[in-house]
Amino acid sequence: MRGLGVLFVVSLVIFCCNFDSSDAELSKSLLKLLKKVNKDGPYIGVLTPSFFELNSLLELPSFSPGEIKYIDHAGRRFRIGHIDSKKVILAMTGKGMMNAAATAMSLMTLFHISHVLHYGIAGNADPELNIGDVAIPQHWAHTGLWNWQKYGAGPDAELPLESEGDFTRDYGFLNFGKFNNISDDDDYLENYLNNVWYQPEETYPVDGTPESCDRVFWAPVDRSLFELSKKLEEEVKLDGCLNATTCLPNTPKVVTTKRGSSASIYLDNAAYKSFLNSQFQVGPVDMESAAISLISHQMKMPYLALRALSDQAGEGDDDNSYGINTFKPLACANAIKFLMEIIKKIEASMDSSESMVSSF
Ligand SMILES: *[C@@H]1O[C@H](CO)[C@@H](O)[C@H](O)[C@H]1NC(C)=O
Ligand SMILES: *[C@@H]1O[C@H](CO)[C@@H](O)[C@H](O)[C@H]1NC(C)=O
Repeated sequence: MRGLGVLFVVSLVIFCCNFDSSDAELSKSLLKLLKKVNKDGPYIGVLTPSFFELNSLLELPSFSPGEIKYIDHAGRRFRIGHIDSKKVILAMTGKGMMNAAATAMSLMTLFHISHVLHYGIAGNADPELNIGDVAIPQHWAHTGLWNWQKYGAGPDAELPLESEGDFTRDYGFLNFGKFNNISDDDDYLENYLNNVWYQPEETYPVDGTPESCDRVFWAPVDRSLFELSKKLEEEVKLDGCLNATTCLPNTPKVVTTKRGSSASIYLDNAAYKSFLNSQFQVGPVDMESAAISLISHQMKMPYLALRALSDQAGEGDDDNSYGINTFKPLACANAIKFLMEIIKKIEASMDSSESMVSSF
């Protein structure tokens, strides 16, 4: 009995330190705990949008929680632990650009992080890619920042505030009138929605002059992480079958691609996804990756996003057997499989990557 009691006390000491705070400010006790955690850093930060993707990873034996299991802050849980032998901090961002950016910012400013990896599932806009493929774009754009032109103004008309440098016509526009279904004749029909012009984000570099912004449309991922992914592309074999009888028509593969795009828009519309592919040559379309890419870019933090294609973003029948519901778990498992490989190999490329260290 006595032995058991001692064991109980010892385990209390080891596992007591899960910290939880309902305040948004950094309290003294939170700062103390962060200092303790950060002393063991740097960590690889791993962000994912939803419970579905998070739990698929947490269920794996390769993730083991640390002595301090997590720190809660600002509505997010930052889980501390190991994936294989690598130290990681894992957090769920929540849906959309705002949540992704806010969580990425917290991760990078609270913790001693060397790299940020982001994984999840995505819609596919590229006819060359297949459901189940894990796409790793070199650049991500936020395609939800628009300047919406008044009805009657054409592509040659200057946008409001364009002359001040606040907006640009460099990245093209979507014309709603082009998307009418004309069955009988080929007349070009207009509507009052006119054009929206895609705009770069204002980013504020961590080492720049405060309040002086750079405008970035295509936010790059880290060069050495991208090169590492290219090397692993052939090596890592992905699963194509859900079970003994249900398999994808093509064996899925890891593909390093040129571009992906994100916006706080759930894209389930074939016409718009085809437009995005022809205008911007994007493969994966999602709601978070570009936000974290933009934040990482301005924080000078090495970043890589891998997204497994789980649906055709509005193409085909919702119930078709290659749709999101059937192969979503397989796509997610494939993304995590590649994530694990990257995490294993990251050390080799660590030195060559520029990394930002927060100092608590
Ligand atoms: C366009 O409209 C016609 C007539 O209503 C319809 O049969 C056709 O399927 C529509 N096309 C598309 C692409 O929805
Ligand atoms: C395989 O998965 C599919 C889709 O979830 C399901 O309909 C089927 O019954 C499963 N087959 C086996 C053998 O488990």
